[in-house]
Amino acid sequence: ADPATASQPLRGLNVLVTAGPTQEPLDPVRYLTNHSTGKMGYALAASAAELGAHVTLVSGPVALAAPDGVDVVHVTTAQDMFEAVSDAFAAADITVMAAAVGDFRVEEVSPEKIKKEGRESITLRLVSNPDILAWAGGRKRDDGSQVLCGFAMETENLIRNAARKLASKHCDMLVANNLREEGAGFATDTNVVTVLTPGTSDLSTPQIERWSKMDKTVLAKRLMLRLAAMRG
Ligand code: CTP
Ligand code: CA
Repeated sequence: ADPATASQPLRGLNVLVTAGPTQEPLDPVRYLTNHSTGKMGYALAASAAELGAHVTLVSGPVALAAPDGVDVVHVTTAQDMFEAVSDAFAAADITVMAAAVGDFRVEEVSPEKIKKEGRESITLRLVSNPDILAWAGGRKRDDGSQVLCGFAMETENLIRNAARKLASKHCDMLVANNLREEGAGFATDTNVVTVLTPGTSDLSTPQIERWSKMDKTVLAKRLMLRLAAMRG
């Protein structure tokens, strides 16, 4: 085989990755967010680029440098992330959503700083954000030319919750991890995942593979190669 093709099996493919948390503003000085550091998503984007893909990384606010050769689109809110993904999705051959997207935002962002004086409590009314992965699953081409992968971090009922997400969001792969598992979770350099793919005969019964603990960079490369192979 051509050595360039052998070391760059994703050459010619467009890869879209989401990473990091979102920030949902409450007022000009405060926001709602989560503990995502972006490590898994950045590792996926870096691997895809090393394997020869053209990579667009839609990233929430993180402290990581842009991986070499990756186009980074910086976003803040879930709505921003949705817009960036909707611009890039049609051109993507492989899409991996590793972002920890805020499920809710405040219904009305206060234009001024919320003041505490005279208040024993306050109530924030939250409304739901668009589900970006579900949106993508609903509009991916049905000729197999677009492969879609989601992530799920759970604290209980890992397989049941992940299987539901795989099916309801029309993913080709769902990578699930348990927050409380040793070697998994936020800000770690390793991850322990269970990989779910749709069953071949019975779509409601996914195929389930438990992968051993590995460095996020090693895991990222394995996932990218697997997703590229699924595209055929
Ligand atoms: N996701 C997304 N847009 C959202 C919420 C989630 O694209 N508004 C994606 C995440 O990037 C991830 C997958 O959906 O790839 C699963 O996210 P998760 O938060 O685990 O699932 P939810 O469907 O939001 O369910 P819940 O938070 O209730 O477990
Ligand atoms: Ca969620």
